[in-house]
Amino acid sequence: MLRTHTCGELRIGDVGKNCTLAGWVQRVRNKGGLIWVDLRDRYGVTQLIFEEGSSHKELIDTAAGLGREFVIQAAGQVIERTAKNPKMSTGDIEVKVSTIEVLNPAKVPPFIIEDDTDGGEELRMKYRYLDLRRGVIREKLQLRHRMMQETRKYMDAKDFIEVETPVLIKSTPEGARDFVVPSRVNPGEFYALPQSPQTFKQLLMVSGFDRYFQIVKCFRDEDLRADRQPEFTQIDCEMSFVEQEDILQTFEGLVKHLFASVKGVELEEVARMSFADAMKYYGNDKPDLRFGMKFSELNDLAQNKGFNVFDAAELVVGICATGAGEYTRKQLDELTNWVKRPQIGAKGLVYVKCNADGSFKSSVDKFYSQEDLKSWADRMEAQPGDLILVLSGDKNSTRKQLSELRLKMGEDLGLRDRQVFKPLWVLDFPLLEWDEESKRYHAMHHPFTSPKTEDIDLLESDPGAVRANAYDLVINGVEIGGGSIRIHDRNTQKMMFTHLGFSDEEAQKQFGFLMEAFEYGAPPHGGIAFGFDRLCAIFGGSDSIRDYIAFPKNNAGRDVMIDSPSTIAEEQLGELSIKLDLKK
Ligand code: AMO
Repeated sequence: MLRTHTCGELRIGDVGKNCTLAGWVQRVRNKGGLIWVDLRDRYGVTQLIFEEGSSHKELIDTAAGLGREFVIQAAGQVIERTAKNPKMSTGDIEVKVSTIEVLNPAKVPPFIIEDDTDGGEELRMKYRYLDLRRGVIREKLQLRHRMMQETRKYMDAKDFIEVETPVLIKSTPEGARDFVVPSRVNPGEFYALPQSPQTFKQLLMVSGFDRYFQIVKCFRDEDLRADRQPEFTQIDCEMSFVEQEDILQTFEGLVKHLFASVKGVELEEVARMSFADAMKYYGNDKPDLRFGMKFSELNDLAQNKGFNVFDAAELVVGICATGAGEYTRKQLDELTNWVKRPQIGAKGLVYVKCNADGSFKSSVDKFYSQEDLKSWADRMEAQPGDLILVLSGDKNSTRKQLSELRLKMGEDLGLRDRQVFKPLWVLDFPLLEWDEESKRYHAMHHPFTSPKTEDIDLLESDPGAVRANAYDLVINGVEIGGGSIRIHDRNTQKMMFTHLGFSDEEAQKQFGFLMEAFEYGAPPHGGIAFGFDRLCAIFGGSDSIRDYIAFPKNNAGRDVMIDSPSTIAEEQLGELSIKLDLKK
């Protein structure tokens, strides 16, 4: 070993010991006669000291010549520091160096490699291997590692076995586009990369594996956001001989285990809410329950009072922002402009200030008496000092807009604390979702999800009303996982494909293998998959999953470090029987 200790290890109790450290030079301070070097490795930073007089000249010269990020080996004695640094775990000591060797010099790095860096996002992505040297980023990957180990520990203890499924497969419909890979030996034919191992895990249930899990890469060609990457990782799970409740219990257990073992947080009971209630009360299928501001519908109180905008609306709905009654005219104008932005799309915003003296001041005083406004406030349980915000219009878009406004108010009022965790099961999702573009129904989760038995009769008469045995796990407004109890017989699966607009031939071509497997003794089964990157980001208190991935892609789906995707040679295209016709 080139070292006796790591740079995060030495403490006051080690004073007097001889040691050899190796690592990267983070900083050199040369005070003429005294040189300090902060030496960094994966475990921390230790201060080295070189003193003129007590160190020989050659040593001082080498120390003075060190640049940032040089890799060095230094040996010496641990001494107590005169000026201690309580912010560093090694801050009580320093190492008085007697020999030093430069193992490898380094070019000046393009940005400062410390927790506070001067490097912009793109630059840090290009030099990701340098960004990963920073403690704040390294800790995120260490968190990911811990989560991975604890997941395996829990799943193994519950008798789940980890099985690897193939990466070169055929399309699995999870609602995004596939990434495809051309096959050289089968000209004109393509593999698809898995959007998830969905069909394989179901086949493993047919094989009798009974409890499967896999920490697995999935690939989806879709628009990127802070919580989406084209390749991401799932904790993918499936169980046989279970009902929905068994799945909820088992995976609530996993989430609780992770919170307890990785964060030391004893998670409360996971709340439950139907999809219908989530939409009605939060305008969203992934409500952030860290704060209230539940929706109150006001149609019966606010319509037929002469205010045309409300009278013409399908839905009049509001939230009560506790303690925001003091908002100024300017703040209210800003809020109004905010909801009118095209991204939100509201036509306007009605507000009611609940004054300290019990009176009300609203933007619609012309149409509503104090008693009218009091009836709104009563419904919302608004108190003096609160602010009521109301939107109206068609049901779906108004809910969506108010949901955005609710989240913004939660943020502005400091109610979305990253150290608070509010998990929620959203249950009873609709089986099907109408798609305006293709003018047909799509599976809301995926086509293998079973309808609720009591709703099956509605499939013909009112397909949109059929509920599925499907569930999502939401934490703090982020969809962390989703799953369902599956269809496990050929006829129901075939019927599902018909409802989704597949012809018999298409269904047979794409999923014949699964339907055939269902004829060889398929057990009742169901499962779930967690977005592992998202789970890590929630644990780490970030909105973006990027820092929890060692080598992520940027917003355009590019890896700017290795410069990918990239063109390939004519010859390689030829081998793949591919002719490009790029229309600019
Ligand atoms: P679903 O499509 O809901 O279900 O995916 C499961 C979870 O994966 C995460 N996720 C993503 N994370 C990062 N980037 C992405 N592009 C991305 N897309 C999805 C989300 C999501 O909740 N086979 C089913 C599961 C099942 O039915 O068992 C499936 O993949 O956190």
